[in-house]
Amino acid sequence: MNFVLLLVFLVTRDGIQQRKNCWQDGVLGTNCPIPPGWNWTYQFQVKDQIGSFFYFPSLGLQRAAGGYGGITVNNREVIAVPFGKPDGDITLFIGDWYTKNHTDLRKALDAGKDLGMPDGVLMNGKGPYRYNTTLVPDGIDYETINVEPGKTYRFRVHNVGTSTSLNFRIQNHNLLLVETEGTYTVQQNYTNLDIHVGQSYSFLVTMDQNASSDYYIVASARFVNESLWTRVTGVAVLHYSNSKSKASGPLPYPPNDFYDKTFSMNQARSIRMNVSAGAARPNPQGSFKYGSINVTEVYLLRNAPPLTINGKRRTTLNGISYSPPDTPLRLADKYDLKGVYTLDFPTKPLDTPHRLGASVINGTYKGFMEIIFQNNDTTVQTYHMDGYAFFVVGMDYGEWTEESRGTYNKWDGISRCTTQVFPGAWTAVLVSLDNVGFWNVRAENLDTWYLGQESYVRVVNPEDDSNKTELLMPNNVLYCGRLKNLQKDNQVPHGSQSSSSFVTYVGGMLLTAMLILVSSAIFP
Ligand SMILES: *[C@@H]1O[C@H](CO)[C@@H](O)[C@H](O)[C@H]1NC(C)=O
Ligand SMILES: *[C@@H]1O[C@H](CO)[C@@H](O)[C@H](O)[C@H]1NC(C)=O
Ligand SMILES: *[C@@H]1O[C@H](CO)[C@@H](O)[C@H](O)[C@H]1NC(C)=O
Ligand SMILES: *[C@@H]1O[C@H](CO)[C@@H](O)[C@H](O)[C@H]1NC(C)=O
Ligand SMILES: *[C@@H]1O[C@H](CO)[C@@H](O)[C@H](O)[C@H]1NC(C)=O
Ligand SMILES: *[C@@H]1O[C@H](CO)[C@@H](O)[C@H](O)[C@H]1NC(C)=O
Ligand SMILES: *[C@@H]1O[C@H](CO)[C@@H](O)[C@H](O)[C@H]1NC(C)=O
Ligand SMILES: *[C@@H]1O[C@H](CO)[C@@H](O)[C@H](O)[C@H]1NC(C)=O
Ligand SMILES: *[C@@H]1O[C@H](CO)[C@@H](O)[C@H](O)[C@H]1NC(C)=O
Ligand SMILES: *[C@@H]1O[C@H](CO)[C@@H](O)[C@H](O)[C@H]1NC(C)=O
Ligand SMILES: *[C@@H]1O[C@H](CO)[C@@H](O)[C@H](O)[C@H]1NC(C)=O
Repeated sequence: MNFVLLLVFLVTRDGIQQRKNCWQDGVLGTNCPIPPGWNWTYQFQVKDQIGSFFYFPSLGLQRAAGGYGGITVNNREVIAVPFGKPDGDITLFIGDWYTKNHTDLRKALDAGKDLGMPDGVLMNGKGPYRYNTTLVPDGIDYETINVEPGKTYRFRVHNVGTSTSLNFRIQNHNLLLVETEGTYTVQQNYTNLDIHVGQSYSFLVTMDQNASSDYYIVASARFVNESLWTRVTGVAVLHYSNSKSKASGPLPYPPNDFYDKTFSMNQARSIRMNVSAGAARPNPQGSFKYGSINVTEVYLLRNAPPLTINGKRRTTLNGISYSPPDTPLRLADKYDLKGVYTLDFPTKPLDTPHRLGASVINGTYKGFMEIIFQNNDTTVQTYHMDGYAFFVVGMDYGEWTEESRGTYNKWDGISRCTTQVFPGAWTAVLVSLDNVGFWNVRAENLDTWYLGQESYVRVVNPEDDSNKTELLMPNNVLYCGRLKNLQKDNQVPHGSQSSSSFVTYVGGMLLTAMLILVSSAIFP
């Protein structure tokens, strides 16, 4: 698949594993930023993967300005899908939104401030339907999803927002969860589901209501004081072709659990893998028996609320705030440059002072790694790993201990690439390190990520000096940092920055260029 981008930044794709090919991953550890006015073509295979993913610009809060889109990878015809073919496929991007642009948001963070409350929740780049004349001003463009009565649609819902966990629901309709981030789930009905920043889900929704009116589609902020946040709720309209009137009345209620920490976690635990369904390959998803593999390395990654390092507000994992070197890590290895990064990421939190650094996790090729994310911050954080899907085997409140392993789900834990970690709680994941390269592990909440909560896992196959387990460096590689002299000026910057960006602002609201790449998983 060729992917031509006229962008002035890097683009990464949550969940697309870039097998053997971190050269195309589009984060600072693997790629130089694309200079303004230049173009760069990403080339990658979506191998052995099916499902719903999205791409977005990866640098400095640019996702807050848009530029994201869906990537849908379909099964090959010969592989059975564990549900009937839906009558339609609908992609919905939900996310919090600030009137301040991403450069101003960055300035706020640099000045040591919080981002504060967002100014809205957008659905497909559009504002809320006017469900309440006091709360929602007139004249806002809202999203309408047109459907036929009796039909079943696959809704692919992505939280592409900055930092807010959202509760997603459709008035009077069940959400039958079928897939998340490339894995078919045990199919279950939900009336609402919490979707945290960076997560993707597919639901089958049957239009089984009598079309006396349209219905609300709602995405509301989670774990916040509802009475303050109602004005930022995202509302779209589900319109039956035979609908008799507009949606009206109160929105469907969110879970009433402001003081109850268990509802959302139990819901998360209920999302499990359908072990008998085939995914990208004909063999069932459950045939990789992760529960019987011995763990070879354990990392307990503990965050902390933002703190001050060298006079700047930063966030940390195990006391280290990642500071990206100006030479990508992968290029440093390729050219044998020493001192770009250190391979000394601590396996557990240390009592040493917090510091900045480019400290990288030493992964072992073919190893089986256990990572426990311990959230000592006060808000939900989501953690993501590039290059892999991991098995989410446990989460609970309190401090993780060795005994916590007794509670792990060793059978049908969901395999995905982005997991939530509740405040004062931990989430444990298992990952099989079979993909060579440098792979970003990060907070998906953009403020936390920007302030330093990320690292990379380095996976090297010492026995491969050719291209068997890792593809060769692409011809169009860009150079920067200590290697910038290798860069040929082969591109004349053309146009201005704004003309080469596909993010368009219309009347203050943001339109997202939606690029849906539909392809078949490629089989070796
Ligand atoms: C699991 O997948 C199988 C095989 O495709 C399917 O028949 C079954 O209905 C699915 N079960 C659930 C609970 O999702
Ligand atoms: C962001 O907004 C500020 C004004 O608040 C403006 O000066 C700046 O140029 C804007 N940046 C971008 C990238 O649009
Ligand atoms: C609209 O919202 C306001 C403020 O929350 C509330 O007092 C009012 O009852 C709502 N109106 C309707 C028709 O629901
Ligand atoms: C989900 O709800 C629908 C009605 O909306 C029902 O037909 C279906 O049987 C339910 N499926 C499961 C697995 O509970
Ligand atoms: C169907 O719509 C009518 C109004 O057109 C309403 O009176 C009735 O309660 C609705 N039935 C159901 C099951 O929602
Ligand atoms: C929510 O905010 C309102 C208005 O500021 C306040 O009166 C109320 O006490 C808050 N509720 C909670 C649970 O914090
Ligand atoms: C896991 O380790 C145990 C004991 O350390 C050993 O007996 C067992 O064979 C190992 N299992 C695998 C799959 O390597
Ligand atoms: C990284 O791990 C490998 C084993 O996979 C080990 O041989 C090597 O010494 C480690 N490197 C460092 C710097 O710890
Ligand atoms: C953070 O860690 C401290 C010290 O272990 C503990 O007292 C506090 O309860 C923790 N807070 C959260 C939100 O985990
Ligand atoms: C991989 O290397 C082999 C020889 O080592 C070469 O023939 C082949 O073309 C290379 N493939 C790619 C994709 O570079
Ligand atoms: C991308 O840059 C090359 C020069 O390296 C140029 O020939 C090509 O036209 C550019 N493509 C687009 C779509 O602008």
